[in-house]
Amino acid sequence: MDSICQAEPGVRQSQGPRTRGPRQPVPPAQAMNHPGPLKNIEAIPIATPDALRERIRRKSKLKGRQPEAASLDEVRELIGPASPEGYRRDLLIEQLHLLNDAHGALHDRHLVALAALTGIPMAEVYEVASFYHHFEIVRGDARAPGVTIRVCDGLACQLAGAQDLLARLPDLLGVAGRADVRVIAVPCIGRCEQAPAAAVHQCAIPRATEAKVLALLDAGIALKAQAPDAARAGGNFQPADLAEQSVSPPPEQTQAIPAFTGYDSYRAHGGYARAAALVKGEEDIEAAIREMEASGLRGLGGAGFPAGRKWRIVREQPAPRYVAVNIDEGEPGTFKDRTYLERDPHRFLEGLLIAAHAVGARHCYIYLRDEYHDCRALLGAELQRLKADPPCELPHIELRRGAGAYICGEESAMIESLEGKRGEPRMRPPYIAQTGLFGRPTLEQNFETLYWVRDILDRGAQWFSGFGRHGRKGLRSFSVSGRVRYPGVKLAPAGITARELIDEYCGGMQEGHALYAYLPGGASGGILPASKADVPLDFDTLQPLGCFIGSAAFMVLSEHDRVRDAALNLMRFFANESCGQCTPCRVGTAKAAALMQAPVWDESTLEDLAQVMGDASICGLGQAAPNPIRSIHAYFREEIA
Ligand SMILES: Cc1cc2nc3c(=O)[nH]c(=O)nc-3n(C[C@H](O)[C@H](O)[C@H](O)COP(=O)(O)O)c2cc1C
Ligand code: SF4
Ligand code: FES
Repeated sequence: MDSICQAEPGVRQSQGPRTRGPRQPVPPAQAMNHPGPLKNIEAIPIATPDALRERIRRKSKLKGRQPEAASLDEVRELIGPASPEGYRRDLLIEQLHLLNDAHGALHDRHLVALAALTGIPMAEVYEVASFYHHFEIVRGDARAPGVTIRVCDGLACQLAGAQDLLARLPDLLGVAGRADVRVIAVPCIGRCEQAPAAAVHQCAIPRATEAKVLALLDAGIALKAQAPDAARAGGNFQPADLAEQSVSPPPEQTQAIPAFTGYDSYRAHGGYARAAALVKGEEDIEAAIREMEASGLRGLGGAGFPAGRKWRIVREQPAPRYVAVNIDEGEPGTFKDRTYLERDPHRFLEGLLIAAHAVGARHCYIYLRDEYHDCRALLGAELQRLKADPPCELPHIELRRGAGAYICGEESAMIESLEGKRGEPRMRPPYIAQTGLFGRPTLEQNFETLYWVRDILDRGAQWFSGFGRHGRKGLRSFSVSGRVRYPGVKLAPAGITARELIDEYCGGMQEGHALYAYLPGGASGGILPASKADVPLDFDTLQPLGCFIGSAAFMVLSEHDRVRDAALNLMRFFANESCGQCTPCRVGTAKAAALMQAPVWDESTLEDLAQVMGDASICGLGQAAPNPIRSIHAYFREEIA
């Protein structure tokens, strides 16, 4: 450091000032471009590379916009003081949320102040803030919108009339004198069984109507997700009792916030006994891993990798190891994680404790999609209860908040987001089981995968694998939406067919509708015609038909719908959500969405696009985006000819 300090004056003198501001007068000797008398020449010590870097860093700090004192104070008040090591880099998105919540948007002066306080370059703060849909950057003193109404225009909500709601609401708000309120269309908010779904600020509105939206605005309530009401915490939700039944209540009993099993109730019914026995060494974790393997439980986030095997792989990696839980639940049509989480958070947390113990992880991160405000309040409060009265030694558990980017459900993008960066998928290998969060081996698991751990260990592997139809094994939580009489989560045997699912679990089709087509796996999993409604639904059974089950988001279309409209809705979604990192996906999805609007499709160009997207995209979004096109080419050609 000494040499840097010594070097500074000489270097400055010889090069002249580099900071912005008025030009400094140039000494005559330099102006003549040759040195003055020898006695005037100062020795310039040779700087080391580190010294040079440090000097550039210090100088570059002075470039660009400087933070104002008031903005620094406002930001500091929200994000709190730095620890002795400084602010944690990975908490950038959490800090942006604090600013966004407090001011309704991100003011650029706050971003400058945040960058100055945290030491993160301004360009990086800006590129992260501008990546996520839920952050809006406003310039100067521009006013942030007062209240935002988000109306879902995902497929299930489109079928249920979301477009009409979107068209009528702005006029109604104008008449009601609510110029401070804006209405925007958003992708699936994970309430497809309650379609059309909307949210006023942070308050969800199931089966939204104009009247419900206006009533909520008129009520003048805080419109923020509330801490859960203790009076609703006494439930004893037992998912095993609902095996081969509907988990969601009938539509007339749907509530935005249902009753749930709180900590006391969960423990009173035997909760955390298994986790405690394993963590305290009273039971053998190796036997538990074997039980998980024997159950055949596969990852329920979409890829279907066997859970027990994943635990073993991560366990064999060098320590320290981490666990990351995926509750991004962004696949349009999927709402199973929310359905279980808002009723029974501790069963999931117990599964998390067991998984962390199995892989020897001391740090766990839960990534929850931002749209689930009530779930966040609930999980945050219940996590505190668990930490206040732990049944055994707990790992460090952090609850993190997504910011409205579907791609962050992709496992490596989620890791990037947890590190406080843009949610851009990583190239693999290395796989995250080897090089994941903070460069360490990471077990990433979907919420529901962990949710079943306790029941599998308590009831035995055979209990879980004993379910199944048509040669398949296990239970699947189908998120059913669209033209059925009773949508919702259906805990059905793996391998059930579409026809059986609709007839036995959903009360059949809606009045006046007949089955025309269905999506077995949300936006990504392709579209099948009614003639394929007798194929077993499970991992690996749909590939020959060009489809996959993914997260089991089962969406139903009737003869009143057009598959080409559904496909266009999905392609627009992919185009909006592409992270833009690879050209085939970024350009291909946008171009495909434009071409798919033509009455007669340019099939060969679309097929070319499908080919290049499928072959040359880095991650599953771009690879699966062509599925709706391919399904139409294979099964619904008459709609586009
Ligand atoms: C574009 C894309 C979006 C995804 N979204 C989710 C998601 O919202 N939730 C989830 O659990 N998995 C999602 N996945 C799957 C994850 O990448 C990963 O396979 C999963 O979280 C692993 O957990 P599991 O083995 O328990 O399923 C997504 C994958 C892709 C390609
Ligand atoms: S395929 Fe799409 S979403 Fe995935 S990394 Fe490439 S651009 Fe991003
Ligand atoms: S909530 Fe609208 S499609 Fe899912």
